[in-house]
Amino acid sequence: MENKLNNELILENINKKYDDESLVLKDINLKLPKSTRLSVLGPSGSGKTTLLRLIAGLENPDSGNILFDGQQMNSYPAHKRNFGMMFQEFALFPHLNVFDNIAFGLKMKGLNKDRIKFRVSEMLLMTGLDGFSQRHIDELSGGERQRVALARTLAPSPDLIMLDEPLSSLDKVLRKRLLIELTKIISKLSITTIFVTHDHEEAFATGDIVIIMKQGVIEQKGTPEQLIQTPKNQWVKDFLGV
Ligand SMILES: Nc1ncnc2c1ncn2[C@@H]1O[C@H](COP(=O)(O)OP(=O)(O)OP(=O)(O)O)[C@@H](O)[C@H]1O
Ligand SMILES: [Mg+2]
Repeated sequence: MENKLNNELILENINKKYDDESLVLKDINLKLPKSTRLSVLGPSGSGKTTLLRLIAGLENPDSGNILFDGQQMNSYPAHKRNFGMMFQEFALFPHLNVFDNIAFGLKMKGLNKDRIKFRVSEMLLMTGLDGFSQRHIDELSGGERQRVALARTLAPSPDLIMLDEPLSSLDKVLRKRLLIELTKIISKLSITTIFVTHDHEEAFATGDIVIIMKQGVIEQKGTPEQLIQTPKNQWVKDFLGV
């Protein structure tokens, strides 16, 4: 049988420090088969964003390997990894309209005008933003902005997407609704998704597998059920409030 793309993400013995400070990530090992939905949960400063930035190629590990689909990624610059990242504050371009925001990554890839138009329309439909293409970013609600950010992340057909606290700037009611919408959109895709949050309800709602980070280490890894039923120690228990 043909050897198909396995799109597996492997982190091996990853260590990371900034400047001469102490280690921010300590011996991280993680294996994510294709289409895994991973939630990364942990208190502020535990290294969640750093972990994503390393996978994305925005930072380099001090030691250890990052492999994707069997390929060593360490020396690949961010734009060659074909990974999508959505940040907390969305980082949309305020001077561009919805269409141009979503088209951004496609233009960078060098797609022609017709293909860009087609793909942006697909993304607008998928995220329920049909009819919004000419709107400016400052004419959108928080929830609509979030969907534009998601559409922009998904447009270039990434092999893996990472969402860093994508809901944290929104109020509680909207958060809940958008979490449902976001999960619905993502569950239709068969790509690996890494979702960072410090809210365990969100982590459990979005992840098949959850890792709990504490001071740069993976304190526990498991399904939501495993974590709730058999928290490893008192710290995990307290953190999850179980
Ligand atoms: N660019 C940087 N330079 C120096 N130290 C940094 C830098 N970015 C993060 N750190 C430090 O690394 C540690 C981990 O930070 P990180 O942003 O990964 O945590 P986090 O889990 O994402 O936290 P939060 O939930 O607050 O977003 C923190 O102690 C932080 O102060
Ligand atoms: Mg963070």
